[in-house]
Amino acid sequence: MKLCFATNNAHKIREVQQLLGSSFEIVGLQAIGCTEELPETQDTIEGNSAQKARFVYQNYKINCFADDTGLEIEALQGEPGVHSAHYAGPERDSQANMVKVLNGLAGAQNRQAQFRTVITLIRDEQEYSFEGIAPGTIAEAPSGKGGFGYDPIFTPQGYKQSFAEMTLEDKNQISHRAKAVYKLVDFLQNHR
Ligand code: IMP
Repeated sequence: MKLCFATNNAHKIREVQQLLGSSFEIVGLQAIGCTEELPETQDTIEGNSAQKARFVYQNYKINCFADDTGLEIEALQGEPGVHSAHYAGPERDSQANMVKVLNGLAGAQNRQAQFRTVITLIRDEQEYSFEGIAPGTIAEAPSGKGGFGYDPIFTPQGYKQSFAEMTLEDKNQISHRAKAVYKLVDFLQNHR
């Protein structure tokens, strides 16, 4: 089954393809000839996820899904949340974003956080949504070279390493996106 994952992030496409297995062919935006920037103007993770999927479905007439993720930090009232990508400015600089989070949490006792992903699938006109949550804490300092985004400062619950110190396989067992993708896969396999 061919499905477009509405992203240009090769890292994510690889993650999801690995989770879905070979009975699905996941193609990115480039492969369907979409070079324009997808609109992401909503103020919630759910809203942005649906907006991206609807844009691709309506303009490219292909069954597709889109994801949107935010890092929600308790002591920062759920920030950076929907602003995760550009928390420290429009440059979308992961290093600067992490520094802003660490500064915001300086001296904080409560370092509880979660990554939350919402996937919107649009298949044959019908829309479905799947949520995945990875609970954890924000470390005092970055560690590890793997992953992307906030991975070096996020320690998933039950682990001592950051996401950036884990292999992709290990992260995929417990990540927010993996949990949402497992729900998507389960749905696709049971509702053909
Ligand atoms: P997106 O909606 O998947 O593009 O995610 C928005 C932002 O959240 C990204 O730019 C990253 O900063 C952050 N993010 C999303 N997923 C992850 C992850 O798995 N690890 C670390 N940061 C992530």
